[in-house]
Amino acid sequence: MPEPLLEIKNLKVHFPTDDGLVKAVDGVNLTLYPGQTLGVVGESGSGKSVTWLTVMGLVTKKEAIIEGEILFRGQDLLKLPVDELRNIRGSKMGMVFQDPMSSLHPFFKVGDQIVEAIRAHQRMSKREAMDLAIDMLRRVGIPRPEERARQYPHEFSGGMRQRAMIAMALVLNPDVLIADEPTTALDVTVQAQILDLIDRLEQEFNAAVVIITHDLGVVAEHADDILVMYAGKPVEFGERRDIYYGAHHPYTWGLLQSIARLDEAERERLRPIRGLPPSLIFVPPGCAFHPRCPYAFDRCSKESPELIPENGHHASACFLPLADKERIFKEEVLQRS
Ligand SMILES: Nc1ncnc2c1ncn2[C@@H]1O[C@H](COP(=O)(O)OP(=O)(O)OP(=O)(O)O)[C@@H](O)[C@H]1O
Ligand code: SF4
Ligand SMILES: [Mg+2]
Repeated sequence: MPEPLLEIKNLKVHFPTDDGLVKAVDGVNLTLYPGQTLGVVGESGSGKSVTWLTVMGLVTKKEAIIEGEILFRGQDLLKLPVDELRNIRGSKMGMVFQDPMSSLHPFFKVGDQIVEAIRAHQRMSKREAMDLAIDMLRRVGIPRPEERARQYPHEFSGGMRQRAMIAMALVLNPDVLIADEPTTALDVTVQAQILDLIDRLEQEFNAAVVIITHDLGVVAEHADDILVMYAGKPVEFGERRDIYYGAHHPYTWGLLQSIARLDEAERERLRPIRGLPPSLIFVPPGCAFHPRCPYAFDRCSKESPELIPENGHHASACFLPLADKERIFKEEVLQRS
């Protein structure tokens, strides 16, 4: 095994608000290796973005109570002074945000924004930086990049803006690329192109990639490993095949059954998980999923299940016996999805 790039240990991110403490992230553990693609999946509000914004240093101890460790090549990012963290964030880790319009500045030309990003971390003339920016725009598949570099974000289509964001995130050759819902706003063809692009860039740059999404279908072809989150906690972790061909957690089963299908005939089979995700201020006791779980029993509302490995590193946080999980997956989930 190579050295891990990133190790997250028991990360908790709680926001004090007027209504109470929002436990957005409540005990995340994971390890990321070079060249690995991790899919992070969960419904809206499960703590996906907050986890990775904290890794990037964009959620800080000023606004949240943060506990645990975030080790980047062995160094705890939560203990670093702000300027050192900023340096790592820009040059070693890049993030493509959920809403590209909010991270590309509307008043500045796309090329100039990439040049700024480069020059914040590398000594380089404006001219050299612009050459690099144009080359990067070309590599992410933007046609006529010299012209495009002189345009403003609103002159780009949604897909082109995503590409520009990816170019900006990759231009400093980061070790980790985090793509938060890289595709939600895009049509299916463009979605597929963006994900293929991320795949290709991962190989070209040997970066570790984190793809955050609410749709298990999005990462089906792209992730090596999948982390499923519910109410701020990981509830299942496994290799891609563990999840798609043998998921162990009832919440993951629900996500598998609600994968958005492409053709309309299939769409009828789409079944959402019953009920709604809980408030992160009043998280249900025991297993947070129990009010929505069709398989809940006595213990589930009283004790909180730990994420425990059952087959190698395939782990789930659910009290059902392994044999039951395997049987239910085969008889009920595979049949219907
Ligand atoms: N600054 C903040 N102050 C208070 N609560 C916050 C703050 N930022 C996020 N939250 C809350 O933390 C929870 C987790 O948010 P997060 O953005 O991580 O969800 P998500 O899984 O990324 O969802 P989505 O799929 O909608 O993007 C949400 O309930 C959100 O309202
Ligand atoms: S622990 Fe109980 S409530 Fe939670 S997922 Fe498993 S069966 Fe359902
Ligand atoms: Mg999010």
